[in-house]
Amino acid sequence: MSERWTPDSWRARPVQQIPEYPDQAALKAVEQQLAGFPPLVFAGEARKLKRALGKVAAGEAFLLQGGDCAESFAEHSADNIRDFFRLFLQMAVVLTFAGGSPVVKVGRIAGQFAKPRSAPSETIGGVELPSYKGDIVNDIAFTEEARTPDPRRQLEAYRQSAATLNLIRAFATGGYANLDNAHRWMLGFVKDSPQSHRYQEVAERITEALEFMRAIGIDPETHPEMRTTDFYTSHEALLLGFEQAMTRTDSTTGEWYDTSGHMVWIGDRTRQIDHAHVEFFRGIKNPIGLKCGPSTTVDGLLKLIDVLDPQNQPGRLTLIARFGADKVFDNLPALVRATKREGRNVVWSCDPMHGNTVKAASGYKTRPFDLILGEVKNFFAVHQAEGTFAGGLHLEMTGKNVTECTGGARGMTDADLNDRYHTVCDPRLNAEQALELAFIVAELVKRDRAGRTKPHVEAAE
Ligand code: PEP
Ligand code: CO
Repeated sequence: MSERWTPDSWRARPVQQIPEYPDQAALKAVEQQLAGFPPLVFAGEARKLKRALGKVAAGEAFLLQGGDCAESFAEHSADNIRDFFRLFLQMAVVLTFAGGSPVVKVGRIAGQFAKPRSAPSETIGGVELPSYKGDIVNDIAFTEEARTPDPRRQLEAYRQSAATLNLIRAFATGGYANLDNAHRWMLGFVKDSPQSHRYQEVAERITEALEFMRAIGIDPETHPEMRTTDFYTSHEALLLGFEQAMTRTDSTTGEWYDTSGHMVWIGDRTRQIDHAHVEFFRGIKNPIGLKCGPSTTVDGLLKLIDVLDPQNQPGRLTLIARFGADKVFDNLPALVRATKREGRNVVWSCDPMHGNTVKAASGYKTRPFDLILGEVKNFFAVHQAEGTFAGGLHLEMTGKNVTECTGGARGMTDADLNDRYHTVCDPRLNAEQALELAFIVAELVKRDRAGRTKPHVEAAE
């Protein structure tokens, strides 16, 4: 890999998954326009997230990352963002209290538009058209016009990301994120869940803790930190022309940051070491993620870590494991052992979604809740066995009551999928399923952290 990096040095490399734009002049004009737009996030915020993730790497915090598989232009409403944010906070409260660990909150939101696909084209009724690549690239409708990549959609994605981020910032700091609110919403979930008895005890413990705090004078009125929260954004930085246009030098450090989101990640299909995505990512200073799947080898992973995190900076690199419930034990232990042996300060996070997608008899793509939970449990078991930290959870989820994943407390079946199957890409956990998972994972986090306090160092005589 050449030493010199520039925001456009990726252009000299082979590249996967980037669409062919028929109108190159229009693409260039859009990229130029984007390059003149204000950044969506600030370098200082990305650094703050990196520090928080450094704590996750050290086992002192837990990462919760989640949101849509793909955001869509059609579903951009305040209600959607509010419901998502509300769900996220409830999950964070459960994980913080029951898991006994601070939670670093990172949404797959305000920029999660571009999608890698397993095939470049799709054939329906003998007609072959380019695959849908996310709203930032083309439209999901199956017509030639809709599927032709249109660069102007990048401007719309920028606008939507800015508007979404604006509302999230308001929610996070304007009083809505008040701990009492999150607690009250969570109690509403527990009351309505068919499995409420399973969550009752944890819910009561949280209530007691908050009552105790209030009794000794710690409440959101007197403690601003209970009214606000740090919430970060992330997406797969797939569309490198867009990401390059959003990459700016930070005036305080002179370093390059991709200002399209706080954290960006490399997908499972674009992590070839000598290709464009790895080249782009190695030069930006954001905290970054790298998906690790069944084709990730120990040697391949260590080489990627050398390139992406040469300074071994805690919080710089989050490895997002997505193997499939039944493949975790075959693949993950050797990788975890290797990063531990090499003293790599990485975060290991579990994406239990992408390795567990199945086709239901109805034809819908779905993910059975039990497989998702199975992958999470296996992930924790591996870290227990290896003496490393299960650092985080990466989910596709929505605050809406959709019917996309089967199972969960309500026992959603294949036959229910047709009711409210709204995703434009992969199936998401609905609000109830996601919160249910958070309750279970909180117990796993607690067990993972128990007995693993820092070694006690005796004071010198
Ligand atoms: C995704 O996170 O939506 C995705 C496409 O994942 P992966 O790269 O792991 O397949
Ligand atoms: Co997905």
